[in-house]
Amino acid sequence: MKAVVFHSYGMDVLKIEEVEKPTPKENEVLVKVCATSVNPAEWYGMSGMFLARLGNGLFKPKDNRLGADFAGIVEAVGRDVTDFKPGDEVFGGRSGAYTEYVCVQKGIARKPANITFEQAGSVAIAGLTALQGLRDHGNLQPGQKVLINGASGGVGTFAVQIAKALGAEVTAVCSTKNVEMVRSLGADLVIDYTKEDFTRTRQRYDLFLDVAGSRSWIECRRILTPKATVVIIGGPKGKVIGPLKHIIPMRLFSMRASQKVVFFIANFNREDMEVMRKLMESGKVKPVIDRIYPLNQINEAMSYLGTGHAKAKIAVTIQ
Ligand SMILES: NC(=O)c1ccc[n+]([C@@H]2O[C@H](COP(=O)([O-])OP(=O)(O)OC[C@H]3O[C@@H](n4cnc5c(N)ncnc54)[C@H](OP(=O)(O)O)[C@@H]3O)[C@@H](O)[C@H]2O)c1
Repeated sequence: MKAVVFHSYGMDVLKIEEVEKPTPKENEVLVKVCATSVNPAEWYGMSGMFLARLGNGLFKPKDNRLGADFAGIVEAVGRDVTDFKPGDEVFGGRSGAYTEYVCVQKGIARKPANITFEQAGSVAIAGLTALQGLRDHGNLQPGQKVLINGASGGVGTFAVQIAKALGAEVTAVCSTKNVEMVRSLGADLVIDYTKEDFTRTRQRYDLFLDVAGSRSWIECRRILTPKATVVIIGGPKGKVIGPLKHIIPMRLFSMRASQKVVFFIANFNREDMEVMRKLMESGKVKPVIDRIYPLNQINEAMSYLGTGHAKAKIAVTIQ
């Protein structure tokens, strides 16, 4: 089968090669992948940020496969699997998903009929990050005020919709070209960061979902209620420690504050994939796809994502 591999770090290093097709273990589902999407995590792994090299080989990648999100059709199931059968349309997340077939145990759910494979294949990382950030780490309650900084990208477009579904009053921050799109997702107020400084408004927020990581703790704390929570999702790209350049000072400088500041890494699990499925089936959440690339243009998809100004999700079709 075909899979995307990389043998060195850098840009334009992704190649399509033949690899062995996996066989499902007794508790696994074999999925024929139809679509996937690109995420900053894969961009960091590919480009060779120092932290990624520490985990995956200093000079060249030990694990040369990439990808996390997928949507496709079940081709076979292990003998202990009772909840999926061949032919089922599914979506989920597992490492190495830029390929024609994946074996999955956790992090899989039935694909809602009202979304495309490209939409379903963009949910796992971005959707679960938004869900877990708002619901679990942010403990967002109905009626609370949340500010989402970086509302127009992959995580942000899910976060605006999930925050509305959780009953919050949502203020979203993005640039001029994305204002209408973000408003159409249900944001109560959209602040264009090129025209207005969101840290200088009179409003105070119970939860600040910091996806873009564009502002310092000193600036951000001006808009927080005394008992607010700040959930840090990411930050600007950095070659050495990536978004940690933003995350570490946010954590350090907020240590004595009355507000809680947390950073987390999203995890794939079936329960949350089910929550996402229901949100999408009910129409409360709709994955927004801005561009779709064929697999043989995955380097172009990564380059676009690498600008840091991609709009919504970027899907990649596999077959
Ligand atoms: N913790 C986790 O588990 C986890 C999971 C997924 C992602 N992340 C991190 O979260 C971050 C975002 O991921 P993503 O998938 O949403 O990325 P993305 O799809 O590339 O989106 C980036 C968005 O950021 C916006 N942006 C750039 N500069 C901004 C600024 N100064 N103010 C406000 N918005 C700005 C861009 O909009 P404009 O073009 O309008 O500027 C763009 O839409 C990354 O750092 C990623 O590593 C963390």
